[in-house]
Order: sequence, then structure tokens, then C-alpha cells
Amino acid sequence: MKVLLLGSGAREHALAWKLSQSPRLTKLLVGPGNPGTARVGTNVPLQADSPEAVVALARKEQVDLVVVGPEAPLVAGVADAVIAAGIPCFGPVAGAALIEGSKAFAKEIMDEAGVPTAGFRVFTDVAEAEAYAVSQGRIVVKADGLAAGKGVIVAQDTQAAREAVRAVGAMGVAGQRMVLEELLEGEEVSVIALCDGERYVLLPPAQDHKRVGEGDTGPNTGGMGAYAPAPFLSPAQLAEVGEQVIAPTLATLRRRGIPFRGALYAGLMLTRSGPKVLEFNARFGDPETQVLMMQLAEDVLPLLDACARGRLESRPLAVHPGASVGVVLAAHGYPEAPRRGDRIEGVDAVPTDCPVFVAGVEDKGGGWLTAGGRVLTVCARGADLAEARAQAYTAVARLRFEGMHFRRDIGAKGLRAPAVTP
Ligand code: AMP
Ligand code: GLY
Repeated sequence: MKVLLLGSGAREHALAWKLSQSPRLTKLLVGPGNPGTARVGTNVPLQADSPEAVVALARKEQVDLVVVGPEAPLVAGVADAVIAAGIPCFGPVAGAALIEGSKAFAKEIMDEAGVPTAGFRVFTDVAEAEAYAVSQGRIVVKADGLAAGKGVIVAQDTQAAREAVRAVGAMGVAGQRMVLEELLEGEEVSVIALCDGERYVLLPPAQDHKRVGEGDTGPNTGGMGAYAPAPFLSPAQLAEVGEQVIAPTLATLRRRGIPFRGALYAGLMLTRSGPKVLEFNARFGDPETQVLMMQLAEDVLPLLDACARGRLESRPLAVHPGASVGVVLAAHGYPEAPRRGDRIEGVDAVPTDCPVFVAGVEDKGGGWLTAGGRVLTVCARGADLAEARAQAYTAVARLRFEGMHFRRDIGAKGLRAPAVTP
């Protein structure tokens, strides 16, 4: 099979790395890719969020499958165009990707599907939203549209609630509609299902680390590291999430004529009254995918292909025993103002069983320079979480660039978790 993978982050490098191990793969094109994907596939210049450009390339190269990494191409209708051109696509049509693109739409679908989530109200008027927020005190304010991870403010008191509504209201298009939501407490876990529109298979639960600082402090980021499996959900509880969250969501989207074929990501809060959905993404998570591809013990290509063709078999996935950890190395100034151009050293000194997935990196002929906020995700798999952590941090110690920073507590919460009952 000839595959075209869209995107250019560490998530895409991890997918490319895993796809490249498939005996069924004949050629892997990555558009536009990055210096990491160039090591496991062939990068092609491409504007990945242009439906016309993607279809033209897919046709010219006669690819058998298109796999979409990021959300922007999905929301722009790339999957619709690829499918219309008669090419199977892993990644949902724009109508279904709206489950990530619009928080209000996601809430509407959850309501209809009976999916457990935080109580909410949708506002289009800032003054009305402010009055409601002040009446609630503790509340979460979310811009309706895609806001590159900056559209959510958790307000712990009345003053913060007022400021949050004003900040989101001032955000422009993404903030013209806002969702005000009950503040939930508990452990956060990401569950990703590979879906064929009707059926699904579940990847192991993973945990992201969104804040820049250790102990979950400082500003939100795109994710500073992840590990899997997250021990807060037993296999039986994971299956329940499939039945109570994934299945009804797929059924509702299908009933609406927008079947979801791709990775459906449920961001869950494990509350005292059970798991509740914080958000859906219409794609693989980053950095969760980096560790999930490490844990997956079977060929990913037939799975993605079966999803794209609507022919998935519902069954447990083969996963490696033990756990995987991925530590993100971020650039000086990330997340506020990441600096570019710092020379990256040590990548080839890292043992090959610790993949270093590439994101914000530029290949300057003979050397790699930082070129984005999240630069590398350094991964390791171990017999257990403690071993995976130890190996990942040993690998991290081989790498350096000016201003490099990372969290030293990736996976630490998982170590402290009580053992789950299967
Ligand atoms: P989102 O972009 O919707 O995932 O929100 C970003 C982060 O805000 C989440 O990872 C949570 O940490 C937090 N968050 C979102 N919704 C809620 C909620 N209802 N209660 C508490 N925290 C939330
Ligand atoms: N890890 C969070 C996300 O991919 O949105």
C-alpha cells in the first residue's frame, strides 16, 4: 500500500515511524512532514489543509490511503475531498470533525447521545455570559471555535469568572460563541478510539501533561509529555468508556449522516460520579500518540485502512506489556514566545529503542535547529512505568539545545496511582 500522511508534528513522526514498520507498506509519503518523518518516509511539499492540493497529490502519486494527522485539514474538508476523489481516508469529514471544531456542537452531540459530560450553557452575548458566570462563581469558559489550545479558561472564583468571559469574548471569531461549563474535578485521561463510522477499537488510556511546569503549574501548552497506559482506568472501565462515550457518539453522528471515520479522542475527567467528557478531538492526540504507537503491538496500517474503508473488526488491540513514556523537550520561551534557531545536539547518541520524535525542527543541512515550541518528544518503553520513565529520562540526558526545558515529572502521577482492578 502507498500511504499519504498529512501533518508535520511529533504525532505525525510517531505515526510515520509505526506505519514504516508495516510489511504491507510499499511507500510512505508525508506532506509536508519534518526532518524526523524524512528518516522513515518521503517528505513532499504540501499545503496539508488545502483539499485541492491534497487531492492533486494523492491522485498524482496514486496513493491507496490518506491519513490525516492534525485538525486543520479535517475542518477544512480535506477528508470530504479525498473521499469524493474515490480514495479511502483515515480522518473524518468536516461535518463530523466539527465535534472538535465547535464546542457547542460537541455538547449538542453529547446531549443527544446521552454521553456523560459537564453541565453547560451556550452564550452569544458577552454581557449575558458574564452575568451567568458571576452567578456561578467557579466555572469553565470555552471559546466555541478552534483556538489552538488557548480557548479554555478555568475560573475558580467570581472575579476570575468575569475576567475569563471578557478574555474569551475579546478573542474574535473563535470567541463569538462561548460555552460556560460546570467545573469538574478528578484525574484527566485521554481515550482514543479508532473508528470506521460504526465500529471502534480502543487504544490504551493515556495521560497528557498540559501545563508547562512540574506539578501541573504555569500556563497551558500543547502537551509536555504523556504516558500509557494510565492506571486510572482498568481494562473493564476502559471498555465501559467505549460503551458509554464512544459507541453512542458514533451512533449519533452516523444517524446525522456524518459517520466518523478516524481517531475519536475523548478527553475525560474521572470524577467521583464516573468519567465525564471534557472535550472531543477528531484526531490523534499529541503527545499521546507518540506513546500509544510505542505501546501498540500490532501493525497500525491495516487498522487505519479498515477504519477508512468502513470495515473495522471490533476487538481488543494487541498491546505490549509494561508502559511507555514520552517527554517533550520545549524551546526557550515556550509557550509564550518560543525561540527558533538553537542548535540541537545528541539526537544520534540516543539508543534506537528510544525514538526521538521530531516536531519544531529545521534541517539546516548538516545540523538540526529548533524551529517551534515543542521541539522533540523522547520516548521509551519499559517493563513497567518506573522503568519506562527511567529510560526516557536517560535518553533526554543525551540531548541538548540552548534554552531546552522539559518536565521531570512525566508519568509521576501514574506511579502514585493505586493499582487498578482488572
Ligand atoms: P479542553 O481544550 O476542552 O481540553 O480544555 C483544556 C483543559 O481545561 C482541560 O485539559 C482541562 O484541564 C480543563 N478543563 C476543560 N473543561 C473543564 C471542566 N469542565 N472542568 C475542569 N477543567 C476543565
Ligand atoms: N494532547 C492533547 C491534544 O492533542 O489535544
